Amino acid sequence: MITKTCLLGLGRTGTVVAEQLINSPKFDLVSVVAKPGSSRVGRPLREFISYDNDNEVTIANAYDLSNEFEQKRFKVAIDFTAPEATLKNAHVLAEKGVNIVIGTTGFNNMQLHELKKLVEEYKIGLVYAPNISVGINLLLSMVKTMARLIPHYDVEITETCHRDEKDSPSGTALQIADELSVIKGMARNQKLAIGRKSSSTKEKSEIGIHSIRAGGNVGVHKVLFAGEADEIEITHRSYSRAIFAEGALKAASFISNLKGFFHMEDVLLFERMDRDLRVAANRLYLNFNN
Ligand SMILES: NC(=O)c1ccc[n+]([C@@H]2O[C@H](COP(=O)([O-])OP(=O)(O)OC[C@H]3O[C@@H](n4cnc5c(N)ncnc54)[C@H](OP(=O)(O)O)[C@@H]3O)[C@@H](O)[C@H]2O)c1
Repeated sequence: MITKTCLLGLGRTGTVVAEQLINSPKFDLVSVVAKPGSSRVGRPLREFISYDNDNEVTIANAYDLSNEFEQKRFKVAIDFTAPEATLKNAHVLAEKGVNIVIGTTGFNNMQLHELKKLVEEYKIGLVYAPNISVGINLLLSMVKTMARLIPHYDVEITETCHRDEKDSPSGTALQIADELSVIKGMARNQKLAIGRKSSSTKEKSEIGIHSIRAGGNVGVHKVLFAGEADEIEITHRSYSRAIFAEGALKAASFISNLKGFFHMEDVLLFERMDRDLRVAANRLYLNFNN
Protein backbone atom coordinates (compact mmCIF):
# COMPACT_ATOMS: atom_id res chain seq x y z
CA MET A 1 0.00 0.00 0.00
CA ILE A 2 1.26 3.50 -0.84
CA THR A 3 1.43 5.86 2.16
CA LYS A 4 0.44 9.49 1.66
CA THR A 5 3.17 11.42 3.45
CA CYS A 6 3.93 14.95 4.62
CA LEU A 7 7.48 16.19 5.27
CA LEU A 8 8.04 18.98 7.80
CA GLY A 9 11.32 20.87 7.38
CA LEU A 10 13.31 21.16 4.17
CA GLY A 11 16.70 21.85 5.70
CA ARG A 12 19.92 19.79 5.40
CA THR A 13 18.28 16.52 6.47
CA GLY A 14 14.72 17.18 5.24
CA THR A 15 16.01 17.72 1.69
CA VAL A 16 17.59 14.25 1.59
CA VAL A 17 14.43 12.72 3.11
CA ALA A 18 12.36 14.45 0.37
CA GLU A 19 14.65 12.96 -2.31
CA GLN A 20 14.18 9.42 -0.95
CA LEU A 21 10.42 9.83 -0.39
CA ILE A 22 9.74 11.14 -3.87
CA ASN A 23 11.64 8.27 -5.47
CA SER A 24 10.14 5.53 -3.27
CA PRO A 25 7.31 3.37 -4.67
CA LYS A 26 6.00 2.89 -1.11
CA PHE A 27 5.33 6.59 -0.44
CA ASP A 28 3.39 9.38 -2.08
CA LEU A 29 4.96 12.67 -0.94
CA VAL A 30 1.87 14.88 -1.12
CA SER A 31 2.97 17.71 1.16
CA VAL A 32 6.17 19.53 2.16
CA VAL A 33 5.90 22.15 4.89
CA ALA A 34 8.35 24.96 5.63
CA LYS A 35 8.73 27.50 8.41
CA PRO A 36 6.26 30.44 8.35
CA GLY A 37 8.01 33.31 6.57
CA SER A 38 10.44 31.01 4.76
CA SER A 39 11.26 32.03 1.18
CA ARG A 40 10.54 28.39 0.21
CA VAL A 41 6.78 28.71 0.91
CA GLY A 42 4.68 28.69 -2.28
CA ARG A 43 7.54 27.45 -4.46
CA PRO A 44 7.63 24.06 -6.21
CA LEU A 45 9.65 21.30 -4.57
CA ARG A 46 11.39 20.82 -7.96
CA GLU A 47 13.34 24.00 -7.29
CA PHE A 48 15.08 22.33 -4.37
CA ILE A 49 15.49 18.70 -5.42
CA SER A 50 15.64 17.09 -8.83
CA TYR A 51 13.46 14.09 -9.72
CA ASP A 52 11.99 12.70 -12.89
CA ASN A 53 8.45 11.61 -11.97
CA ASP A 54 5.43 13.89 -12.41
CA ASN A 55 4.72 14.49 -8.71
CA GLU A 56 4.05 18.23 -8.29
CA VAL A 57 4.32 19.53 -4.72
CA THR A 58 4.10 23.18 -3.73
CA ILE A 59 5.80 23.98 -0.44
CA ALA A 60 3.23 24.89 2.22
CA ASN A 61 3.42 27.19 5.23
CA ALA A 62 3.53 25.47 8.65
CA TYR A 63 1.09 28.12 9.80
CA ASP A 64 -1.51 26.55 7.43
CA LEU A 65 -0.79 22.95 8.42
CA SER A 66 -4.41 22.29 9.34
CA ASN A 67 -5.67 23.41 5.88
CA GLU A 68 -2.83 21.54 4.21
CA PHE A 69 -4.06 18.35 5.90
CA GLU A 70 -7.67 18.96 4.86
CA GLN A 71 -6.54 19.22 1.23
CA LYS A 72 -3.92 16.45 1.10
CA ARG A 73 -5.16 13.95 3.72
CA PHE A 74 -1.72 12.45 4.44
CA LYS A 75 -1.45 9.51 6.80
CA VAL A 76 2.08 10.03 8.14
CA ALA A 77 4.23 13.11 8.76
CA ILE A 78 8.04 13.09 9.07
CA ASP A 79 9.57 15.94 11.05
CA PHE A 80 13.16 17.26 10.80
CA THR A 81 12.78 20.83 12.12
CA ALA A 82 13.47 22.16 15.64
CA PRO A 83 11.86 21.20 19.00
CA GLU A 84 9.48 24.18 19.36
CA ALA A 85 8.33 23.85 15.73
CA THR A 86 7.88 20.09 16.12
CA LEU A 87 5.67 20.53 19.19
CA LYS A 88 3.51 23.16 17.51
CA ASN A 89 3.08 21.04 14.38
CA ALA A 90 2.56 17.82 16.40
CA HIS A 91 -0.49 19.35 18.16
CA VAL A 92 -2.13 20.09 14.79
CA LEU A 93 -1.20 16.68 13.35
CA ALA A 94 -2.39 14.74 16.42
CA GLU A 95 -5.77 16.48 16.34
CA LYS A 96 -6.13 15.32 12.73
CA GLY A 97 -5.11 11.75 13.63
CA VAL A 98 -1.87 11.83 11.60
CA ASN A 99 0.90 9.46 12.72
CA ILE A 100 4.31 11.11 13.16
CA VAL A 101 8.01 10.25 12.84
CA ILE A 102 10.15 12.72 14.80
CA GLY A 103 13.80 12.90 13.78
CA THR A 104 14.30 16.32 15.36
CA THR A 105 16.56 16.29 18.42
CA GLY A 106 17.09 18.49 21.48
CA PHE A 107 13.76 18.08 23.34
CA ASN A 108 13.80 18.70 27.10
CA ASN A 109 11.92 16.33 29.46
CA MET A 110 8.84 18.55 29.55
CA GLN A 111 8.62 18.70 25.76
CA LEU A 112 9.05 14.93 25.52
CA HIS A 113 6.29 14.47 28.07
CA GLU A 114 4.03 16.73 25.98
CA LEU A 115 4.64 14.52 22.92
CA LYS A 116 3.77 11.39 24.93
CA LYS A 117 0.57 13.06 26.17
CA LEU A 118 -0.46 13.85 22.58
CA VAL A 119 -0.05 10.17 21.67
CA GLU A 120 -2.28 9.12 24.59
CA GLU A 121 -4.89 11.83 24.12
CA TYR A 122 -5.37 11.51 20.36
CA LYS A 123 -4.49 7.79 20.05
CA ILE A 124 -1.98 8.37 17.29
CA GLY A 125 1.23 6.54 16.42
CA LEU A 126 4.57 8.29 16.95
CA VAL A 127 8.18 7.19 16.46
CA TYR A 128 10.53 9.31 18.55
CA ALA A 129 13.91 8.75 16.89
CA PRO A 130 16.75 11.04 18.00
CA ASN A 131 19.00 8.34 16.50
CA ILE A 132 17.30 7.40 13.29
CA SER A 133 20.15 5.71 11.42
CA VAL A 134 20.49 1.94 11.40
CA GLY A 135 24.28 2.19 11.91
CA ILE A 136 24.07 4.25 15.11
CA ASN A 137 21.48 1.86 16.51
CA LEU A 138 23.86 -1.01 15.73
CA LEU A 139 26.70 0.84 17.49
CA LEU A 140 24.45 1.34 20.52
CA SER A 141 23.66 -2.34 20.79
CA MET A 142 27.35 -3.32 20.29
CA VAL A 143 28.68 -0.98 22.97
CA LYS A 144 26.02 -2.14 25.43
CA THR A 145 27.22 -5.72 24.92
CA MET A 146 30.84 -4.63 25.36
CA ALA A 147 30.06 -2.77 28.58
CA ARG A 148 28.58 -5.99 29.96
CA LEU A 149 31.58 -8.08 28.85
CA ILE A 150 34.37 -5.71 29.97
CA PRO A 151 32.81 -3.60 32.75
CA HIS A 152 36.25 -2.75 34.22
CA TYR A 153 37.47 -0.93 31.05
CA ASP A 154 37.46 2.89 30.98
CA VAL A 155 34.91 4.40 28.58
CA GLU A 156 35.45 7.63 26.62
CA ILE A 157 33.13 8.90 23.86
CA THR A 158 34.26 11.31 21.12
CA GLU A 159 31.82 12.85 18.66
CA THR A 160 32.36 15.14 15.68
CA CYS A 161 29.69 17.10 13.83
CA HIS A 162 29.36 20.03 11.42
CA ARG A 163 30.02 23.56 12.67
CA ASP A 164 26.30 24.54 12.72
CA GLU A 165 25.16 21.68 14.98
CA LYS A 166 23.12 23.16 17.84
CA ASP A 167 23.36 20.34 20.44
CA SER A 168 26.69 19.79 22.16
CA PRO A 169 27.43 17.04 23.12
CA SER A 170 25.26 15.35 20.52
CA GLY A 171 22.07 13.65 21.67
CA THR A 172 23.60 10.40 20.41
CA ALA A 173 26.71 10.75 22.61
CA LEU A 174 24.50 11.48 25.63
CA GLN A 175 22.32 8.47 24.86
CA ILE A 176 25.36 6.20 24.57
CA ALA A 177 26.69 7.52 27.90
CA ASP A 178 23.26 7.20 29.51
CA GLU A 179 22.77 3.57 28.46
CA LEU A 180 26.34 2.61 29.41
CA SER A 181 26.03 4.26 32.82
CA VAL A 182 22.94 2.12 33.56
CA ILE A 183 24.89 -1.03 32.60
CA LYS A 184 27.79 0.11 34.79
CA GLY A 185 25.34 0.38 37.70
CA MET A 186 25.41 4.18 37.95
CA ALA A 187 22.44 6.53 38.11
CA ARG A 188 21.55 8.00 34.71
CA ASN A 189 23.69 11.02 33.75
CA GLN A 190 25.86 10.59 36.85
CA LYS A 191 29.64 10.68 36.55
CA LEU A 192 29.69 12.12 33.03
CA ALA A 193 32.78 14.22 32.30
CA ILE A 194 31.64 16.47 29.45
CA GLY A 195 34.67 18.16 27.84
CA ARG A 196 36.97 17.26 30.76
CA LYS A 197 38.98 20.28 31.89
CA SER A 198 39.71 19.96 35.63
CA SER A 199 43.13 18.89 36.83
CA SER A 200 41.75 15.91 38.76
CA THR A 201 42.35 12.41 37.39
CA LYS A 202 39.64 10.30 35.79
CA GLU A 203 37.41 8.51 38.25
CA LYS A 204 37.15 4.78 37.64
CA SER A 205 33.49 4.70 36.54
CA GLU A 206 33.48 8.14 34.91
CA ILE A 207 32.39 8.31 31.23
CA GLY A 208 34.09 11.12 29.30
CA ILE A 209 32.36 12.86 26.36
CA HIS A 210 34.32 15.06 23.95
CA SER A 211 32.79 17.15 21.15
CA ILE A 212 34.44 18.45 17.99
CA ARG A 213 32.58 20.90 15.70
CA ALA A 214 34.19 21.27 12.30
CA GLY A 215 33.29 22.02 8.69
CA GLY A 216 30.52 20.06 7.03
CA ASN A 217 31.10 16.79 8.94
CA VAL A 218 27.90 14.70 8.84
CA GLY A 219 28.74 12.89 12.11
CA VAL A 220 31.30 10.59 13.72
CA HIS A 221 30.80 8.76 17.03
CA LYS A 222 33.66 6.82 18.63
CA VAL A 223 33.36 4.78 21.80
CA LEU A 224 36.69 3.78 23.33
CA PHE A 225 36.97 0.94 25.86
CA ALA A 226 40.49 1.01 27.37
CA GLY A 227 42.03 -1.48 29.80
CA GLU A 228 45.56 -1.56 31.26
CA ALA A 229 47.01 -3.52 28.33
CA ASP A 230 44.70 -3.02 25.38
CA GLU A 231 41.82 -1.05 23.98
CA ILE A 232 38.86 -1.53 21.66
CA GLU A 233 37.29 1.33 19.76
CA ILE A 234 33.97 1.21 17.89
CA THR A 235 33.44 3.99 15.35
CA HIS A 236 30.36 4.99 13.38
CA ARG A 237 31.11 7.41 10.57
CA SER A 238 28.25 8.92 8.55
CA TYR A 239 29.25 9.53 4.92
CA SER A 240 25.98 11.23 3.99
CA ARG A 241 22.59 12.25 5.35
CA ALA A 242 21.08 9.48 3.21
CA ILE A 243 21.39 7.21 6.28
CA PHE A 244 18.98 9.45 8.19
CA ALA A 245 16.51 9.42 5.29
CA GLU A 246 16.74 5.63 5.04
CA GLY A 247 15.88 5.35 8.77
CA ALA A 248 13.06 7.90 8.46
CA LEU A 249 11.41 5.90 5.66
CA LYS A 250 11.68 2.67 7.67
CA ALA A 251 10.09 4.43 10.68
CA ALA A 252 7.31 5.89 8.49
CA SER A 253 6.46 2.43 7.05
CA PHE A 254 6.43 0.98 10.56
CA ILE A 255 4.14 3.63 12.09
CA SER A 256 1.71 4.03 9.19
CA ASN A 257 -0.81 1.60 10.75
CA LEU A 258 0.15 1.58 14.44
CA LYS A 259 -0.91 3.53 17.51
CA GLY A 260 1.39 4.29 20.46
CA PHE A 261 4.77 5.78 21.31
CA PHE A 262 7.75 3.94 19.80
CA HIS A 263 11.53 4.25 19.48
CA MET A 264 13.83 3.43 16.54
CA GLU A 265 14.84 0.27 18.40
CA ASP A 266 11.21 -0.96 18.03
CA VAL A 267 11.25 -0.18 14.29
CA LEU A 268 14.44 -2.18 13.76
CA LEU A 269 13.34 -5.05 16.01
CA PHE A 270 10.09 -5.34 14.05
CA GLU A 271 12.03 -5.33 10.77
CA ARG A 272 14.32 -8.12 12.03
CA MET A 273 11.37 -10.21 13.26
CA ASP A 274 9.60 -9.73 9.95
CA ARG A 275 12.74 -10.83 8.06
CA ASP A 276 13.23 -13.88 10.33
CA LEU A 277 9.58 -14.89 9.87
CA ARG A 278 9.90 -14.65 6.09
CA VAL A 279 13.05 -16.79 6.13
CA ALA A 280 11.34 -19.38 8.36
CA ALA A 281 8.22 -19.40 6.13
CA ASN A 282 10.39 -19.85 3.05
CA ARG A 283 12.24 -22.77 4.70
CA LEU A 284 8.90 -24.42 5.61
CA TYR A 285 7.65 -23.95 2.05
CA LEU A 286 10.80 -25.52 0.60
CA ASN A 287 10.57 -28.48 3.04
CA PHE A 288 6.93 -29.16 2.14
CA ASN A 289 7.61 -28.94 -1.59
CA ASN A 290 10.65 -31.22 -1.71
N1 LIG B 1 17.42 11.69 14.38
C1 LIG B 1 18.57 11.75 13.74
O1 LIG B 1 19.31 10.76 13.60
C2 LIG B 1 18.94 13.07 13.12
C3 LIG B 1 19.80 13.17 12.03
C4 LIG B 1 20.05 14.43 11.47
C5 LIG B 1 19.44 15.56 12.02
N2 LIG B 1 18.64 15.42 13.10
C6 LIG B 1 17.94 16.56 13.70
O2 LIG B 1 16.95 17.03 12.79
C7 LIG B 1 16.75 18.43 12.97
C8 LIG B 1 16.99 19.17 11.66
O3 LIG B 1 18.33 19.00 11.30
P1 LIG B 1 18.95 19.71 10.01
O4 LIG B 1 20.40 19.43 10.06
O5 LIG B 1 18.16 19.32 8.81
O6 LIG B 1 18.68 21.24 10.39
P2 LIG B 1 18.39 22.47 9.41
O7 LIG B 1 19.21 22.36 8.19
O8 LIG B 1 18.49 23.69 10.26
O9 LIG B 1 16.86 22.24 8.98
C9 LIG B 1 15.76 22.50 9.81
C10 LIG B 1 14.67 23.01 8.89
O10 LIG B 1 13.45 23.11 9.61
C11 LIG B 1 12.81 24.30 9.14
N3 LIG B 1 11.79 24.73 10.09
C12 LIG B 1 11.92 25.45 11.21
N4 LIG B 1 10.71 25.64 11.78
C13 LIG B 1 9.82 25.01 10.99
C14 LIG B 1 8.41 24.85 11.04
N5 LIG B 1 7.65 25.40 11.99
N6 LIG B 1 7.81 24.10 10.08
C15 LIG B 1 8.52 23.57 9.07
N7 LIG B 1 9.86 23.73 8.94
C16 LIG B 1 10.49 24.43 9.91
C17 LIG B 1 13.95 25.29 8.98
O11 LIG B 1 13.55 26.35 8.16
P3 LIG B 1 14.50 27.66 7.97
O12 LIG B 1 15.64 27.18 7.12
O13 LIG B 1 13.61 28.61 7.27
O14 LIG B 1 14.92 28.07 9.36
C18 LIG B 1 14.99 24.39 8.31
O15 LIG B 1 14.81 24.34 6.92
C19 LIG B 1 17.74 18.84 14.09
O16 LIG B 1 17.07 18.76 15.34
C20 LIG B 1 18.81 17.76 14.02
O17 LIG B 1 19.52 17.58 15.22
C21 LIG B 1 18.38 14.20 13.65
